[in-house]
Amino acid sequence: MSEPAFKLMIPGPVSVSAEVLKAISQPVVPHYGANFIKFYKETIDLLKQVFQTKQDLFLLVGSGTAGIDACVGSCLAAGEKIIVGSNGFFGDRLIWIAEGNGLQVIPIRSPLGEVLNPQDFLDVVNENPDAKAILVVHLETSTTIINPIEQIAKIARDHDLLMIVDAVSSVGGIPLAFDDWGLDLVATSINKCLGAPPGLSPVAVSDRAWQSIDKLPAKKHGWYSDLKTWRKYATDWADWHPTPVTMPVNNIAALNVALHQLIEEGIENRHHRYRHLATILRKGLAAINMPPMTPENLLNPVITAAYGPEGTSTSKIVNYLAKRHQIIISGGLGALKEKTFRIGHMSPVVTEEDIHLVVDALSQFPN
Ligand SMILES: Cc1ncc(COP(=O)(O)O)c(C=O)c1O
Repeated sequence: MSEPAFKLMIPGPVSVSAEVLKAISQPVVPHYGANFIKFYKETIDLLKQVFQTKQDLFLLVGSGTAGIDACVGSCLAAGEKIIVGSNGFFGDRLIWIAEGNGLQVIPIRSPLGEVLNPQDFLDVVNENPDAKAILVVHLETSTTIINPIEQIAKIARDHDLLMIVDAVSSVGGIPLAFDDWGLDLVATSINKCLGAPPGLSPVAVSDRAWQSIDKLPAKKHGWYSDLKTWRKYATDWADWHPTPVTMPVNNIAALNVALHQLIEEGIENRHHRYRHLATILRKGLAAINMPPMTPENLLNPVITAAYGPEGTSTSKIVNYLAKRHQIIISGGLGALKEKTFRIGHMSPVVTEEDIHLVVDALSQFPN
């Protein structure tokens, strides 16, 4: 396949490696039978390594939101209380997802650009002993803030609440330890830090989550996005057809290669490499007077947001880079629209040279 005529540096979807592209263009195979089972199981096992779990993991078909919706809708009954943290666009979306599933939402907010405060969760949990779960974004992609989900999960565990995490933009790029942190339901997407094309949402489910789900009264959360459906096929049809639906086999083949590349590089090595890129980028941005949005202690290894020159709408910067330098970056989201721009460096194929190219192009922005 020819090189794209542009450089993709948005926070997903990301550019993928040549080997991953090759894998997706292989002949289509059936989504069942011995051959499929072998590479499907292997893909699930590789994902479990990345999530750091020995518990259940399913590969749902759809974008990251499909996985989050399945987690939220499968583990609580309509009318039950859920505590939802929000410090940005995607946190707000979690509130809509919970409301869309008929849940009673107790929001906890932090100002844009600040991390969610575990103490706020402790207070709200104590005030709401009937709450059943906590739902939080790990990496709030709109502001680049990484929330302290390990600490929040401890509060959930201590008070017997389920801990549900939107880890769409974090898994594979920054540390997340599903078992050690005591997480219960975590969904991600394969087209961000995992370095594969869009189309699948891996979802991890703890034994504790299953105990809670299995105690729920018969509930009506459809069928396709009910995690019990995915468990049923993974067990009852394990030996020939482990999923309830036709799977995008080529995307799984691509994901399989992307995961092998991640494991080969080493998960921690990959994290360090991204962090190094972020450090270079932040220095470069500061030097051209486009300062990163967050202070150094809130450095995000996989995505950097920055302010443009005083009084400039950041869509102008985004358009300038696309038109003049063929580099695609993102604008601000939600309340940060026109205020910030965002550069994704969560793709395994992003190099130091790419970071210098972006900074160089930005430095030429005619203000
Ligand atoms: C933190 C976060 N959650 C959810 C989503 C939505 O993911 P998707 O578009 O794959 O459904 C995104 C997308 O960027 C995200 O960054």
